[in-house]
Amino acid sequence: MAHDVQPQQPLWWQQGVIYQVYPRSFKDTNADGIGDLTGIIAKLDYLTWLGVDAIWLSPIYPSPMIDFGYDITDYTDIDPLFGDLATFDTLVAQAHQRGLKIIMDYVPNHTSDQHPWFIQSRSSRANPRRDWYVWADPKPGGSPPNNWLASWGGSAWEWDITTGQYYLHSYHKAMPDLNWRNPAVKEAMFDVVRFWLDRGVDGLRIDSAQRIMKDPQLRDNPPNPDLRGTTYKSFTDYDTQLHLNDKGHPDIHEVYRELRQLLDAYSILSPRVALGEMHIYDWKVWARYYGLQLDEIHMPLNFGLVSIPWKARTVQQLVDAVEAALLPGAWPNYVLSNHDEPRIATRVGPEQARVAMLLLLTLRGTPTLYYGDEIGMHDVEIPPEYIQDPSEKSQPGKGLGRDPERTPMQWDGTPNAGFCPPTVKPWLPIADDYKQTNVAIEREDRHSMLTLARALLQLRRTTPALSVGSYTPIEGVPDDCFVYMRQFGKQRHLIALNFSSNEQQVHLPKPGGRVLLSTHLDREESIELNTLRLRGDEGCIIEVGDTRT
Ligand code: GLC
Ligand code: CA
Repeated sequence: MAHDVQPQQPLWWQQGVIYQVYPRSFKDTNADGIGDLTGIIAKLDYLTWLGVDAIWLSPIYPSPMIDFGYDITDYTDIDPLFGDLATFDTLVAQAHQRGLKIIMDYVPNHTSDQHPWFIQSRSSRANPRRDWYVWADPKPGGSPPNNWLASWGGSAWEWDITTGQYYLHSYHKAMPDLNWRNPAVKEAMFDVVRFWLDRGVDGLRIDSAQRIMKDPQLRDNPPNPDLRGTTYKSFTDYDTQLHLNDKGHPDIHEVYRELRQLLDAYSILSPRVALGEMHIYDWKVWARYYGLQLDEIHMPLNFGLVSIPWKARTVQQLVDAVEAALLPGAWPNYVLSNHDEPRIATRVGPEQARVAMLLLLTLRGTPTLYYGDEIGMHDVEIPPEYIQDPSEKSQPGKGLGRDPERTPMQWDGTPNAGFCPPTVKPWLPIADDYKQTNVAIEREDRHSMLTLARALLQLRRTTPALSVGSYTPIEGVPDDCFVYMRQFGKQRHLIALNFSSNEQQVHLPKPGGRVLLSTHLDREESIELNTLRLRGDEGCIIEVGDTRT
């Protein structure tokens, strides 16, 4: 079946490609080993050259950095490590001059325990900010109010000795959950949104978007009887429960409808977008966050590609299930890697990472590209003395650490890969292959991952079929292949991907076509589609129609 609800007038976030910058790791300009806003400004020309459309910045707000910026003490300022508001304004202005949009990370579920709101809240039960967070009495006997668990291990409740109650933290105990049932909290957090939209920000990536509304009665979660991972990766203890009551309470949709109205009010001159971090793998439940009238989150982020085995049939089933779950007009999106997941090159290997890049940039829906994936960066093993991530520190050795995918961007072959001066110790180690895997070298190499990523981005930009065209899977192809058609008007492009390292032959009852791009970057030629040969680990974009002259 063809999925062909093409937007009438595609908006920038439907047609464009989002690039995620993890600011600590992008470019350091003041020699402290930590990336900063001036560094991002310095690399805007690189991003324009690469051909992306929007930059999503992981958090840059003032923070004690327990969770590297996801623990915030002031939502309307910039941490001095990264710069200041004036530098941020320059970043927005410089990005906009180049036609690049800026998407801010927005962290509504929790603050830092050092946030003035929480300091007041915990100061006494009578404090006017007491009800800004989720406080509850112990059970008789003193144990926590219910059985909820923190994502990073242990109870989600922390005892506060001064006021004799527990507070809720879905993650680290230094990150207390805000009480979104308090209208004052909602208003304050909506004011935060207004603050950044007024500064010219083009969108928000809503962190832990599903968590803000919990069961108002704080009922226990039921057990997860067969200990099946409640998401795709094991969070150990956290997986012993079904997380029915500690997130995603139905009245969450009302909050997102209101947030959408706020964004819409700002969108008249320049459309703003909300992306929501949603670890939901039941696509019907996930799609609900678009809103029944498409009046909630523009794009609940889709982590399907991160969560499944790398097999052609499984990937096709995922794409088909996502397409089938979407209400008409809902715009899909795909994430291949991010700051919480192993990098694609590590998950599938360097050869298949090229196929994955071609997939990401030719599926129907907005792609999110993680910094460094365009040069084929892989996860870096972190020596014990370098470990930073609280999720690793809370449950050491269980493979939950996220430092390996957050290492500094590799710009060139000089010591520290051009991320920071050679004499400075970067906050995380540099990958040992930086002398070959870096922007400077790969720019000059006709067959590099960077050349491939850029060629794909250019082709996508100039080919409506690839960005906003319909998607139709082609059946009857070998098990290791995923083949689909993207079509816009008369423009038809066939995407053929070989997920194996063996040659595959695909037989298609179609006329001839022309290979516009192969992941091997070594062929552009007219072909017969009745026997299309794909070499091992090869993916192709083929313009369909007899193009021979
Ligand atoms: C989200 C972020 C992750 C962070 C967590 C708590 O999952 O992506 O990096 O640790 O929320 O804010
Ligand atoms: Ca710095």
